[in-house]
Amino acid sequence: MKIFAYGIRDDEKPSLKEWENAHPDVEVGYTQELLTPQTAKQAAGSNGVVVYQQLPYTAETLQALADQGIHQMSLRNVGIDNIDLDAAKKLGFKISNVAAYSPNAIAEHAAIQLARVLRRTKELDAKIAKRDLRWAPTIGREVRMQTIGVVGTGRIGRVLIHILQGFGAKIVAYDIYKNPDIEKQGLYVDSVDELLAQSDVVSLHVPSVKENIHMINKDSIAKMKDGAVLVNVARGDLVDTDALVAALDSGKLAGAVLDVYENEVGIFNEDWEGKKFPDDRLNDLIDRPNVLVTPHTAFYTTKAVLEMVHQSFDAAVAFAKGEETRNAVKY
Ligand code: COI
Repeated sequence: MKIFAYGIRDDEKPSLKEWENAHPDVEVGYTQELLTPQTAKQAAGSNGVVVYQQLPYTAETLQALADQGIHQMSLRNVGIDNIDLDAAKKLGFKISNVAAYSPNAIAEHAAIQLARVLRRTKELDAKIAKRDLRWAPTIGREVRMQTIGVVGTGRIGRVLIHILQGFGAKIVAYDIYKNPDIEKQGLYVDSVDELLAQSDVVSLHVPSVKENIHMINKDSIAKMKDGAVLVNVARGDLVDTDALVAALDSGKLAGAVLDVYENEVGIFNEDWEGKKFPDDRLNDLIDRPNVLVTPHTAFYTTKAVLEMVHQSFDAAVAFAKGEETRNAVKY
């Protein structure tokens, strides 16, 4: 059996080596290049491919794999919103993802960054770098004094709730799918509007499905408390960025945490030093003292990377053997 992986980074190689050593019966091929209609040929002779979400996997890309006799794709990440699922279905593709590589990686990042915005550490760091060691006016807000609205109580949202409860924050939560534990704790409110109205911090942990696109927009921001902070470590298109910028300009929102951005594909995970930065709006957000932008790195921990590699290869092997895998995507 042969499995071929695309876009393998240096930091993934130790986890890949470990997996290979534990599976001497599987031939592993890989490249640093991403899967495109042109690179699909490199997987010739393989049972399946392992990829991660970086480029759109269009009908043309899927067809190029099918032309090599490959009808299975195992993602090393959770999101599948870059795949043309209609084309995948027509071509009979089996798809797997890694739905739970480490919810803590993302939840911790959200908690750390939201605490940093509340304590204004970006402003403090800038002052300290200039040797301005005065306290004022950089006074912070305590996490425990905040009502934090968690939209989406899947694995990541629930870990975040647990972390923030450790700080002593009051949590309100919303999800169309109720989690029994969160329900037992009485954390759910009846609507997103109710959550927005009550929360000092709003943190998004929902997928980028049609109904959620621009769930944070001009109207929803108007329903938020004055001086609220928005946290988005989920998907860029959940937030109407123009509306966010306007709310930061007017002071309606006191700050934002953005690990994702509407137009991030082709911008994040690239080195722009010494080159013309391609997005003025993102440039402006990065420069703001009350906004923390990270380039979709909430997931990026040693534990998560190991799980992404191991679970995706396990799923690829299961598909090739015609076995069930908990990582199969029902679509
Ligand atoms: C995901 O797992 O879907 C992520 O957002 C992480 C990234 C590797 C795309």
